[in-house]
Amino acid sequence: MSKKLIHKQVQFDFLVIGSGVAGLSFALKVAPYGKVAIITKKQATESSTFYAQGGIAAVLSSEDSFQMHIKDTLIAGDGLCHPDVVAMVVKSAPARIRELLTYGVKFTRWDKDAEHLDLTREGGHSKRRIVHAQDLTGREIEEKLLDRVKREKNISIFEDHIAINLIKNSNVHTCWGAYVLDVKRKAVITFLSKITVLATGGAGKVYLLTSNPDTATGDGVAMAYRAGAKVANMEFMQFHPTCLYHPQAKSFLVSESVRGEGGILRLKDGTAFMKKYHPLKDLAPRDVVARAIDAEMKRTGDECVYLDITHKSAAYVKKRFPNIYKKCRSFGIDMTRQPIPVAPAAHYMCGGIMTDVNGRTTIDRLYAIGEVAHTGLHGANRLASNSLLEAMVYAHNASQDAILDVQNKVSFPRVKSWDIGKAVKSDESIMVTHNWDEIRRLMWNYVGIVRSEKRLARAKRRIDLLQKEIADYYWNFIVTSDLLELRNIATVAEIIIKSAIKRKESRGLHYTIDYPERNDLQWQKDTLLSL
Ligand code: FAD
Ligand code: SIN
Repeated sequence: MSKKLIHKQVQFDFLVIGSGVAGLSFALKVAPYGKVAIITKKQATESSTFYAQGGIAAVLSSEDSFQMHIKDTLIAGDGLCHPDVVAMVVKSAPARIRELLTYGVKFTRWDKDAEHLDLTREGGHSKRRIVHAQDLTGREIEEKLLDRVKREKNISIFEDHIAINLIKNSNVHTCWGAYVLDVKRKAVITFLSKITVLATGGAGKVYLLTSNPDTATGDGVAMAYRAGAKVANMEFMQFHPTCLYHPQAKSFLVSESVRGEGGILRLKDGTAFMKKYHPLKDLAPRDVVARAIDAEMKRTGDECVYLDITHKSAAYVKKRFPNIYKKCRSFGIDMTRQPIPVAPAAHYMCGGIMTDVNGRTTIDRLYAIGEVAHTGLHGANRLASNSLLEAMVYAHNASQDAILDVQNKVSFPRVKSWDIGKAVKSDESIMVTHNWDEIRRLMWNYVGIVRSEKRLARAKRRIDLLQKEIADYYWNFIVTSDLLELRNIATVAEIIIKSAIKRKESRGLHYTIDYPERNDLQWQKDTLLSL
């Protein structure tokens, strides 16, 4: 890289940061009303959305009801869901599924000509209500949405572009776009826009083991926090109980729908253990299952447990779970004949940037939608398959709100170009790699499934030191995507630790041995943080 970065400035009506289900859905809806830029840090399909397996929760059967879906969501959320938000999202679900069908998304049906969509079951759901495309639901949605987006004249996609910071007036709390690093051309571009949308997904990469792709470094939360937005409930990081346990199987999820279709969790000796932990056994809410596995692994000293679906016919398993079957086979595991070794991994960020019912953040002209947002839907623990749904619903609500706003005449403020000051090219990339690794390990070991005051305090001391080191490095060296992401995972780690320290009880995904009980009197409230 040359010592100097190139600068340029561009203007759009809508700047959408992120090309998962949230960003793409929003962009499609606002495209008739103005020029849209979608920036995305790798190739456009690379997102958590692409890897989603289980499906989308929606009440579509006559045996189900909105009331039941609402109740299941509230139970999983362990007293912290916002009931008005839950009702709104659940009731919006059928319309959003119909919309996906009009985009050409092919969900699995009972048989080729069947009118009805196949509905699967997952943990915490009292009914079969998960619409899916075999076990490749996310890929099907992402590809169909992207096809549509590419056909829209008003939308430009910028791949390999990573947002660095939001552009904000220093005196007024208004966002006017973002500074963006064009990774291939080594240029920082000033993207000015009337409306900015953070659709940057989650932060699984803050933890050593995760089901998330490399893009999930919490950039949206970190940028919004630095800009002064409020963030909420970041202590509630969801650990998925069943990721494939194999040294080379980085980030591969074994869908909860495997348990939904009868899969049983067993120890190495074949004992099924979930009956000890919850009346719903293997279909208990995710926080319960992940903690049960963690407890069994600690008790036995084993590095994994086993998910057994060998009692189903091989033909059924191959047809229903072609992706999981193929992946397991590539590691020498035949899931039709042997149980799959699995262990928990960081999966979903239930907290995020605080928004209202239209996705508006506490900064004017800045929206947050999808996993990056805290809307009040998930409370202390997300119900499986409510996340793609939330992303679709809030992309819709935010688009309708932003369309009204964008029609008002505004003049952009004068914005300074990106200033690299005295920064020079780094010859110390070892510091970046080392600190990445240290943060992810310390979060896994001290701020994981089971926490304690002592471990959280230790994590806080370490992260404070690392933050200082990273800040020095950030100001002295020319930015790269690795450095930007390191700075963001450090910020998100700090926010998670601070939030976890604040909550002196155990609830949902936040479990601490020092306060093992839920305490509604003092803690039935969101944890809010801002700079
Ligand atoms: P994402 O799909 O993650 O997209 C984020 C986008 O932002 C990416 O394009 C990324 O490159 C981009 N980005 C991030 N930072 C920047 C930056 N600084 N600059 C530019 N671009 C940036 N949920 C369900 O409801 N059902 C499921 O079956 C399900 N299965 C899952 C399986 C797996 C393996 C995983 C990881 C998650 C699963 N989830 C599921 C959760 C769900 O997939 C995600 O919560 C959802 O897809 C998030 O969508 P999103 O659009 O908010 O973010
Ligand atoms: C899965 O398929 O198990 C993931 C579902 C989800 O995270 O909602």
